[in-house]
Parts: sequence; structure tokens; C-alpha cells
Amino acid sequence: MIFSNRKKQPSGEVDLTRLPRHIAVIMDGNGRWAAKRALPRGAGHAAGAETFRRVATYCKDLGIDYLTAYAFSTENWKRPAQEVDGILNLLDKYLRESIESMERDHIRMRFLGDCSALPEKLRAFIARTDEISARYTGFQANICVNYGGRDEIVRAANLAAAAGEVTKENLEAHLWSAGIPDPDLIIRPSGELRLSNFLLWQSAYTELYFTDTLWPDFGPKEMELAILDYQRRNRRFGEIS
Ligand code: IPE
Ligand code: IPE
Ligand code: MG
Repeated sequence: MIFSNRKKQPSGEVDLTRLPRHIAVIMDGNGRWAAKRALPRGAGHAAGAETFRRVATYCKDLGIDYLTAYAFSTENWKRPAQEVDGILNLLDKYLRESIESMERDHIRMRFLGDCSALPEKLRAFIARTDEISARYTGFQANICVNYGGRDEIVRAANLAAAAGEVTKENLEAHLWSAGIPDPDLIIRPSGELRLSNFLLWQSAYTELYFTDTLWPDFGPKEMELAILDYQRRNRRFGEIS
């Protein structure tokens, strides 16, 4: 299952009254993690999926409202078919297992991206998770699959134009992320210093956090460090205070 039931005590250091409401993570470095161990890249993706489970549980227990994870980009289709199939199969496996924990822990899950390009069995599970999510109001995990920030903006702009005038509000209402507050913190592990087409619209005022740790090695401790770093930042949004 994606979310284990284990309760983890939040560290006393994190200020629970000033938590980021929405954390987003670019789950990068799976391939390098596997290569370091002379394992196939698929083993890295499997380890990365486990990391997501642990990090999501930690965030939920800490009191974070939204966790968004970049799982597969519109550009990742350019990888060898075997790797793409492996990633989609992993997603399928984790979705099946997560349905039970969603119902038990009242977790919402939403998929951001063009799901129409995904295999039929995966789309059926996504429809089922949507149904379950509609019943709850608590912690929400957003999984970005076949997601690209540019595609998202172009699609939203077209939909907004078809509905009338294109304004920031109308465009936002047609993003995959409609209704979800912008991320307060984006975390990119694996040492790469870029967004790779992730949440381009939504990240206008997001705090960015980079770490060399590869995603499969990223855990609650590292998430705590990222939150502590975030809590030391001064978010000005263009003002001078
Ligand atoms: C991220 O890990 C997972 C996906 C992009 C699907 P990578 O597979 O990109 O791992 P590295 O960057 O090659 O180490
Ligand atoms: C970003 O990682 C996409 C995901 C983690 C799903 P990539 O590995 O695809 O990004 P680049 O190619 O290093 O920019
Ligand atoms: Mg990568």
C-alpha cells in the first residue's frame, strides 16, 4: 500500500503552526540509485515508489494538507519502452494497493496530467480513486503522471479561451491542479538544479529546495530538514515586509 498506518512523531523543532500547506516533490534519481548498486533501473523505480509511501505517511501525520509527486513527465515517454512499461506497471501495482489504505485512512488522491494516454487498466483505477477521494476531505496526495507544465498551461489556455475571456483565474480553473493551492515548497533531490517542466504556472512564488540525496534515499528525516529550511525563509511575494 502507498500509505502505511505507522504513526511517526513529528520533531519538536518543526513549527507545526507554520507548516507548508502544500509540498511538491520531483522524484528524481531512481536510475542513479540503481546504477550505484549495479541494479537495473527498474529496481530504482521500485525503491522510489517505497520512498513515496514513507514520505506521504510522514507528511500526512505531520499535518501537511497536500503532497504532490512528479512520477512521469510528458518527456519521459522518450525513454526505452521497457523502462516506460516498468514505471507504468509500478504505478498500477501501487494504485491497487493504495485503495485499501485510502479507505482506511480517509486519504484523497488526485492525478494531474493527461490520463487519456495511459493504459486502460490504469485509467480504471484512477477513476476508482477519484470516486473514493470524493467522499473525504483530509490529506490529499497528487500524483503527476504524463504531466508537463507547458502542456498543462496550453490546454488550460485553450479551455479558458473557449469559455470566454482568458484571465489568470479562468486559466487556473482549467489547470490539472484546479482547486489545489499553489505549492509552498518544491523539493528536487538528486543534485539537479531545474524544474524539468514541473508545475510551471503554480511555482511562481514557490520556495525551492535542492538536495544531492537520490530520491530512493530521501526519507522523513530529509523531509524534516527541507521543512525546517522552508521555515527559515522570508516569503515576500513582491512586498517589502
Ligand atoms: C526519476 O528517476 C523517475 C522518473 C523520471 C520516472 P530517474 O529515472 O530520472 O533517475 P535518474 O535521474 O536517471 O537517476
Ligand atoms: C523529472 O525527472 C521527471 C520526474 C521525476 C518524473 P527527469 O529525470 O525526467 O528530468 P531531467 O531529464 O533530468 O530534466
Ligand atoms: Mg532523472
